[in-house]
Amino acid sequence: MAKITVSKLKKMKQEGEKITSLTAYDASFSSLFEQQGIHALLVGDSMGMVLQGGSDTLAVTNQDIAYHTRCVRAGAKDTFVIADMPFMTYSNPADACHNAAELMRAGANMVKLEGGEWLYPAIESLTQQGIPVCGHLGLTPQSVHVFGGFKIQGRTNEAAEKMIHDAKALEAAGAQLLVLECIPSELAKAITEAVSIPTIGIGAGKDTDGQILVMHDLVGISAGYIPKFSKNFLLEAGSMPEAVKKYIDDVQSGQFPAPEHEFN
Ligand code: KIV
Repeated sequence: MAKITVSKLKKMKQEGEKITSLTAYDASFSSLFEQQGIHALLVGDSMGMVLQGGSDTLAVTNQDIAYHTRCVRAGAKDTFVIADMPFMTYSNPADACHNAAELMRAGANMVKLEGGEWLYPAIESLTQQGIPVCGHLGLTPQSVHVFGGFKIQGRTNEAAEKMIHDAKALEAAGAQLLVLECIPSELAKAITEAVSIPTIGIGAGKDTDGQILVMHDLVGISAGYIPKFSKNFLLEAGSMPEAVKKYIDDVQSGQFPAPEHEFN
């Protein structure tokens, strides 16, 4: 497959072709995912839970993400790699630029930040200095203690309107991609229609421009339990390469996520 760029991802949105994405943390899996034709890989701070065994993502450091980004890039030369910016590494534009530069040097094509309009100055600064940004709205795990648990977001009219406003603000600041996590499908559809940048959903229904799963969820070895929005593709597929292929095929054909994976 040709090298995936941010322009290619935007073109896919315009042409209605679904973007497929998985988290990855090492070279063996990133290589396998690239061979199966995945478009984007996220070196997620979910590593705090699935690799490090924590109960949330807050202990992950910028050094952790940089190390795993190097590993992922070593296995996948042509795939679009997004590196997560950990908790408290982007509280102001200067910190955001300093820490994001380390992740870009490690091989990322883009960095991901969790939060709404308050991120405007950091995103503007990053973009001006050549660092592409992915926003992340909805159930943003770094705010788990503010939410009082891993809870579906955007269920009231007020919260939904605020999220649409935040999505537009992130785009205006310069964000070029947007992850929507654990929100009602109708709201994810409204956000996807309200912005011109691609949206990638996880627990956000079938109408986002693409889908992402934590790779451990795809093969049924999640920390603790399989979330409602996920599916064990290994059960049907029988092998890891076939499970990844089935996930990609099902996302692209619109079979995944199915209604039982959605929130209202
Ligand atoms: O850290 C992560 O893996 C993520 C995805 C769940 C989107 O942010």
